[in-house]
Amino acid sequence: MSTAGTSILLVDDEPELLEVCAEALSDLAGKITTAGDGLQAASLISQDTYDLIISDLRMPGSGGMDLIKSVSRISPGTDVIVLTGFGTIDNAVECVRLGAVNYLLKPFRVESLRSAVIKALDERSMRLQQKAVSDLSRMLNLNSALSIQKDSKSLIKEFLLQVRSSFSPDGIAFFYGGATNGNGNGSGANGGRHVLIGPHFRDHPEVRAWFESLAGSLANKGRPLLLEEQLLRQAFGQRVSEGAVPASAIGVSVGGPEGAPGAVVALRAEGSSPYTLADLHLLTLFSAHASLCFESHWACSRLKSVNDEIVFSLVHAVEAKDTYTRGHSERVSRYAARLAKFIGLDHREVDLVRTAGMLHDVGKIGVPDSILNKPAILEPHELPVMRQHPAIARNILGKVASLTDVLPVVYHHHERYDGTGYPDALKGEDIPFLARLISVADGFEAMTTDRAYHRARSVDAARAILANGAGRQWDPGLVQAWLKLLDAGGLGAP
Ligand SMILES: [Fe+2]
Repeated sequence: MSTAGTSILLVDDEPELLEVCAEALSDLAGKITTAGDGLQAASLISQDTYDLIISDLRMPGSGGMDLIKSVSRISPGTDVIVLTGFGTIDNAVECVRLGAVNYLLKPFRVESLRSAVIKALDERSMRLQQKAVSDLSRMLNLNSALSIQKDSKSLIKEFLLQVRSSFSPDGIAFFYGGATNGNGNGSGANGGRHVLIGPHFRDHPEVRAWFESLAGSLANKGRPLLLEEQLLRQAFGQRVSEGAVPASAIGVSVGGPEGAPGAVVALRAEGSSPYTLADLHLLTLFSAHASLCFESHWACSRLKSVNDEIVFSLVHAVEAKDTYTRGHSERVSRYAARLAKFIGLDHREVDLVRTAGMLHDVGKIGVPDSILNKPAILEPHELPVMRQHPAIARNILGKVASLTDVLPVVYHHHERYDGTGYPDALKGEDIPFLARLISVADGFEAMTTDRAYHRARSVDAARAILANGAGRQWDPGLVQAWLKLLDAGGLGAP
């Protein structure tokens, strides 16, 4: 046990006893302070933090029982040992019920005092270690829960769920995007938004408004706050009903999901144990971590929207050349994404398929208009030119780092399952799975719309061609899934 950082407060009205005890414990603590009565001790604990208080029970003025009550209110993390005579042993037992860790009967031997102090400090150290482990596991839970969220709404929801399970609040409020002067229905007067949980915030506009204003200050100054009952009573005065005044609250700033600063507040009602500095410290860590997640999510969203703009501008450049296929890429993208969802791919792969569908024919930008828009079957010498479009796409997209995963899907979308396709004549499962999927959507779309060299076929005719080509041109499993999706009406409006 390390004693250098340990701080003990001795409280007794007998100066000689204080002196003997301080001497006896001098090697067990880095700092020993003494007080002559409960009032003086209460004043000391409001100014400083102690690990252990050893207090006489019966003292003139304010006694040990009052002191224990003050400790549980002002410094609930501090342990207390009470000293008592035989006449007040019932009171000592009551003190243990109120939270004292032990009591010693007077007169006691110095060794008994030392053993009781060593035991109390050992147990305290073990408890603090357990708390550190528990705090760490809460942080890890928070980390894994936040890292799998895919949009800011689910990120906020998960963050508040984690705050609820780790801080047992009776109310939580999360203000963001300009947190001042809210009206309580999800958005504030200054464009601020909020999520409110618990009756204090939902049912009492004065409480909500006061905390929203506090959140504005937290978001701007960034200083975490622990609010005790006395301050909260003063803040609300007679303006709100007795039961609506929280007994304690903690609040810290959090980077908002849209880049603007916000704040989270957790409160406890009367009857729940009040929040402590340790709770505030943990909430500060929680919020710092959540801020990083919000920030990174926000940066990804902005990057994704820039990517989407690049994708759309490339596709529009192609479709400006190829008048017969206007809208083709968007429809292939939509069909392929529906098929991907239908067969249970995860959201990342569905997104990938959606982007690849948009970009699959982007290489046609390098195919001469005379070939691209020819209203007839291509001549043998024109086919190789048209068939260069996957390679041209690879050259264009290969320069965009964020589209690396899209590249093989686009490059191989004209491979055939039987190995007779292009550009690499890959066969069966050697063809990237998502390229096989795009190929089915591409084939169906091409058959069911007017092209330069043929009129649109009916859905039934296209189904028959797909079924016939399963295992030859297309992956049979994916054709089967596509036909099932059509049967289920999963395509919606064409
Ligand atoms: Fe193509």
